[in-house]
Amino acid sequence: MSANNSDPYNATVIGREEINPQLVILRVRPDTELFEFRPGQFGVLGLLGSAPRVEESTPEDVPSAPDKIIRRAYSIASASVERRYVEFYLTLITSGQLTPRLFALQHGSRVFLGPKASGVFTLDRVAPEKAVVLIATGTGLAPYVSMLRTLLVGDERRRFVVLHGARFSWDLGYRGELESLARLRPNFTYIPSITRPDQDPHFIGYTGRIQALLEQGVLERESGVALDPAKAEVFLCGNPDMVKLATLLLKDKGFATKGGTAPATIHVEEYW
Ligand SMILES: Cc1cc2nc3c(=O)[nH]c(=O)nc-3n(C[C@H](O)[C@H](O)[C@H](O)COP(=O)(O)OP(=O)(O)OC[C@H]3O[C@@H](n4cnc5c(N)ncnc54)[C@H](O)[C@@H]3O)c2cc1C
Ligand SMILES: NC(=O)c1ccc[n+]([C@@H]2O[C@H](COP(=O)([O-])OP(=O)(O)OC[C@H]3O[C@@H](n4cnc5c(N)ncnc54)[C@H](OP(=O)(O)O)[C@@H]3O)[C@@H](O)[C@H]2O)c1
Repeated sequence: MSANNSDPYNATVIGREEINPQLVILRVRPDTELFEFRPGQFGVLGLLGSAPRVEESTPEDVPSAPDKIIRRAYSIASASVERRYVEFYLTLITSGQLTPRLFALQHGSRVFLGPKASGVFTLDRVAPEKAVVLIATGTGLAPYVSMLRTLLVGDERRRFVVLHGARFSWDLGYRGELESLARLRPNFTYIPSITRPDQDPHFIGYTGRIQALLEQGVLERESGVALDPAKAEVFLCGNPDMVKLATLLLKDKGFATKGGTAPATIHVEEYW
C-alpha cells in the first residue's frame, strides 16, 4: 500500500502480538524506507481522533478532534539492523487518548509513523569495558530489547543485566526471548520481578519493587556485576517514580546523573 494525498497515514501494521489484553507488541512497516536509529531511541506513532477505541477503554472526557492526528512517543524494541519494520511494546491506558486507538489496530491497519527516531537514551557514551545495567518497569523494557537484539550478537565480553519489574508474571513481555538469550549468552543476566505476588501465587522468582531488589543486593548476586560507577553504568526506564527513587539509591553508591560535576553514569527515560 502506498500513501496518497488523502491518506494521513504512512505506515502499515504488519504484526500484532497480544501479550495480554493490556499489553501488545506492534510491528509497523513504513511505506518508504525506514529511518536509521540507534538502539534505545524512540519513534512516534499517531492515529486520527476519528479512529475507533477498543471496547475495554473508558470514554474520553473531552472527545478528540476527529481530523487531528494524536501523536505519542514510543521506544523502539526492534534491532537497529532490522530494516523492514519497527517494533513497539505498548501498554493500554484505558482512559488515554492514543493507546485505546492503537490497541484497536489489526494486521494490515494503517497508522502514522513519525519520520525519524529521537533520544539520547543509548549506549553511545558508555565505555566498552563497562557493564550495562538495564532497569525497567512495565513497557520501559522496550529500549533494552532493541539494545540486546542489536548488540548482544556481536559483543561477547561486555556484561549486560536486565532487571524488569511488572505487576504480574503475565505482564513480563519478552520473558521467553530474554530467558533464551540468558541461556545462550553467559555475559547476559535477566532478572524479572513481580510486585503483586498475592494475586499470582504460582510465579517462581523474585518479588518486590526494583528498589527493594537493589537494596537486597539481588542484582549483584545474580549477575556478578558490582554496582560501582567505575565498572558499570545504569539505565532506568518506565515509571517516573521508580526512576526517581532508584536514582536516589544509586547516587548513594556514587552514581551520577547528568547535571552534576561527574560524568553521567545513570541514564534515564521517564515515560510520563
Ligand atoms: C520517550 C518516551 C518513550 C515512550 N515509550 C513508550 C513505550 O515504549 N511503550 C509505552 O507503552 N509507552 C511509552 N511511552 C508513553 C507514551 O508516550 C504515552 O504517554 C502512553 O502510551 C499513553 O498515551 P495515551 O494517549 O494513551 O494516554 P494519555 O492520555 O496521554 O495519558 C497519559 C497517562 O498515562 C500513564 N502512562 C503513560 N505511559 C505509560 C506507560 N508506558 N505505562 C504506564 N502508565 C503510563 C500516565 O499516568 C500518564 O500520565 C513513552 C513516553 C516517552 C516520553
Ligand atoms: N494487569 C493489569 O491490571 C494491567 C496490566 C498492564 C497495564 N495496566 C494498565 O496500564 C497502565 C500501566 O500499568 P503498568 O503495570 O504497565 O505500569 P506501572 O503502574 O508503572 O507498573 C509497572 C511496575 O512498576 C511498579 N512500580 C510502580 N510504581 C513504582 C515505584 N514508585 N517504584 C518502583 N516500582 C514501581 C509496579 O509495582 P506495583 O505493583 O507495586 O504498583 C509494577 O511492578 C495502568 O493504567 C494499568 O491500569 C493494567
